[in-house]
Amino acid sequence: VQPAHQRLYELHDKVADFYHYYLTGTNNGASGYDYLLNRGFDEALLDTFQLGLAPDNSQVLLEYLRQNEFSDQELIDSGIFYQNDYQEWRDRFCGRLIIPLRNERGQVVAFSGRQFQAEQSPQAKYLNSPETPIFQKGELLYNLDLARPEINRTKQVLICEGYMDVMALYQAGYENVVATMGTSLTEEHLDRLTRLSREVYFIFDGDEAGQKATKRAFDLVLPRPQLVAKSVSIPQGLDPDEWLKQKGKASFDRLLEEAQSAFDFQVEYLKTHYNLHNDQELAQYIEQVTQLIAQLNSPIEQELRMKDLAEAYTVSLDLIEEQVARKRQQLN
Ligand code: GTP
Ligand code: MN
Ligand code: MN
Ligand code: MN
Ligand code: MN
Repeated sequence: VQPAHQRLYELHDKVADFYHYYLTGTNNGASGYDYLLNRGFDEALLDTFQLGLAPDNSQVLLEYLRQNEFSDQELIDSGIFYQNDYQEWRDRFCGRLIIPLRNERGQVVAFSGRQFQAEQSPQAKYLNSPETPIFQKGELLYNLDLARPEINRTKQVLICEGYMDVMALYQAGYENVVATMGTSLTEEHLDRLTRLSREVYFIFDGDEAGQKATKRAFDLVLPRPQLVAKSVSIPQGLDPDEWLKQKGKASFDRLLEEAQSAFDFQVEYLKTHYNLHNDQELAQYIEQVTQLIAQLNSPIEQELRMKDLAEAYTVSLDLIEEQVARKRQQLN
């Protein structure tokens, strides 16, 4: 008896090899190859991540797979091929750079294709495989297989948004790096990480979307005292890949050292979302901060934060303490 879904894994493995060879071993791969080298990735990295390129024409891959006795049904089930309105077989990733998505055991379970030539716009920048029996978007942490040894060693994990961020950080020597699938962090991701590490660093893009994602991620981690979460806000709206390439590794190390605690991030986040010159909004802001203080584990830190808050906004400490006590009761 074959292990479950073995054919589907074999098919993905074959396709990944094909795309990788097309990128690195044929003249037709030159445009994609140059694009990646221009982005600062080196040849070893293209191999490590088995990056590829899908030909503009679907026929060669199709025939290769049929020669290897994959059935039409298997091609459809993989999500890689579809039949268009004229019943022609098409590779959904045609003309895109290919990032094979590997599961925790290092098996390729899906692909993401990035458009990289100007004439390809305005299609979506990235296109992913649909969900299949071996690929669940909300569960996959990209690069967890390669990141495992370094996560084990450090008990720390860096989480970013994009494949390119993972590759750039990995190449720079931060091997304990994974990415969510561009979607937000899920409970499934955290279940996995809680078992592997003690400390997680959210390093999402420095834009508003990234800040929102960080906020949500902290909300998810909060009920898990086993995990200490910190966040790095990349300045100037850049993402980790862009920052590394523009500012270098020493500068990225400093960002990591200055990573914010959940409390500091949440307070900063609230500050930018309330108008503190308006008394009503200021009151709401203070309410929210007392809620955050109530959730802190250390009574000493609570005390310090309450004093800070009372002084910063000239509210009586008694009142703040009352609020925090009430919020604590609601938590229990
Ligand atoms: P580069 O532009 O190549 O540097 O990629 P990026 O990772 O910086 O892209 P971006 O910050 O826009 O998006 C972060 C992640 O969200 C990507 O790595 C993808 O996983 C996902 N994503 C972005 N755009 C799309 C899209 O158009 N479709 C899908 N399905 N996912 C996307
Ligand atoms: Mn190779
Ligand atoms: Mn982004
Ligand atoms: Mn980027
Ligand atoms: Mn980005």
